[in-house]
Amino acid sequence: MKKSDTPDSGFTLTDNQTGKTWKFPGHTGAMGNRLVDIRPMYSTSGLLTYDPGFTSTAACKSDITYIDGEKGILLHRGYPIEDLAEHSDYMDVCYLLLYGELPTPEQKASFDTEIRYHTWLHEQLARFYQGFMRSAHPMAIMVGVVGALSAFYHDSTDISDPEQRQLAAHRIIAKMPNIGASAFKYSLGRPFPIPINKYTYAENLLQMMFSNPSEEYKINPVLAKAIDRLLILHADHEQNASTSTVRLAGSSGANPYACIASGIASLWGPAHGGANEAVLNMLDEIGTVKNIKKYIAKAHDKDDSFRLMGFGHRVYKNYDPRAKVMQKSCHEVLTTLGIDDPRLELAMRLEEIALSDDYFLEKKLFPNVDFYSGIVMKALGFPESMFTVMFAIGRTVGWIAHWREMLGDGDQKIGRPRQMYTGYKKRKYKPVSNRGHTQNKISWSWLWRGKKNGTTASEG
Ligand code: SDX
Repeated sequence: MKKSDTPDSGFTLTDNQTGKTWKFPGHTGAMGNRLVDIRPMYSTSGLLTYDPGFTSTAACKSDITYIDGEKGILLHRGYPIEDLAEHSDYMDVCYLLLYGELPTPEQKASFDTEIRYHTWLHEQLARFYQGFMRSAHPMAIMVGVVGALSAFYHDSTDISDPEQRQLAAHRIIAKMPNIGASAFKYSLGRPFPIPINKYTYAENLLQMMFSNPSEEYKINPVLAKAIDRLLILHADHEQNASTSTVRLAGSSGANPYACIASGIASLWGPAHGGANEAVLNMLDEIGTVKNIKKYIAKAHDKDDSFRLMGFGHRVYKNYDPRAKVMQKSCHEVLTTLGIDDPRLELAMRLEEIALSDDYFLEKKLFPNVDFYSGIVMKALGFPESMFTVMFAIGRTVGWIAHWREMLGDGDQKIGRPRQMYTGYKKRKYKPVSNRGHTQNKISWSWLWRGKKNGTTASEG
């Protein structure tokens, strides 16, 4: 936030119980949003802030991506996502996210080549895959394999060396499609894929996923473009859960491969990158248009755990601009392939009904990037289990860009949040001889039933 990091007149906090006041510096972000700098708060007032989920907390400064949730705006280094999706390719966007500017033709050619010559996986890694069941979820394999890369590439784990940071960044971006496609091929019992240097990043991903080594594989340019666009739409999204995980892991000085593996693990959750797979499962569960109203009612019901997957967002309180582009891509791919997927019709009717539903309007729940992406990936031939793998491949450049930015930020230190303690005060130790005896049958469910309804675990 170099452009506007001049502290302004700041803010005053008053303790209504004691009348004491404290002054805190203010900052104004590049888009005019003001922030309270609470770094001196604990040392000057002994007070902590409470913000589980970081709904009102900026954990860092960043120049990479800007989201205006109210207006549904997404900019990468100032460029609207719609323009990048329309006019750029994924390598263009990777360069932009990593280095801050769209590449010149020479920079782009050199970057393309650099990435292309890091797409191979060490032959020994194949044995790593063989440790997994063939039925293992590809995300479980991806977390393990990416974390293990630090054991293969000791020449790029020293984060204090800019050259090693750069090499690790390029290696991880280059290898993710191969790692993901290898997990898919391993699940089928087929030979591991080999990247082919004449192909673009998206074309290579397509051929590594779907080619058969015994036959010549023809790249369908419409499908390659759809995959390239899908990767652009997933490339970065400021401080989402997985990116924040990568930043937190990186703040301890962990090597880049371990940090990216932590981001993959976080992305896997159904509330985050796992939502695309959950959307398809939800559409299959809803089945037909006539069931939509029943499921919308379930989404309203506080006592029902059902949520409309692919809807809602922590930041967007308007339509996710990526979802609009994804919906268009959906139509293009299904038309090109001549696929009539009833789930698209169902998804569009579901969106139409949800967007006129008072509950969804009141809570500002709109389709997000995951709502249509699953239908596109299904049409492209990806099994549901590979949807979040595709998300991870696209998001890797965002994770790396934030990891690099975090390492270069003088304000950054190891992330170590505080807490609001709600447990026992200090109490006298009880030897086992005087802890009484358990009368009823021991059931381990009390271990986790504990605090859910306000009772402590032992009373559960
Ligand atoms: C991604 O952060 C990012 O940028 C993420 C991402 C990225 O690119 O990295 O954009 C990718 O993760 C997109 C989101 C994918 N997840 C889903 O589609 C899962 C379904 N949506 C949610 O579970 C939810 O909307 C979240 C997790 C996305 C956001 O949750 P928040 O911001 O914590 O909001 P919340 O859970 O507090 O919900 C606010 C209210 C609640 O009701 P009240 O308690 O206020 O009465 O809205 C309700 C929720 O019950 N609500 C939903 C809902 N999402 C929120 N009700 C029904 N269906 C939903 N989908």
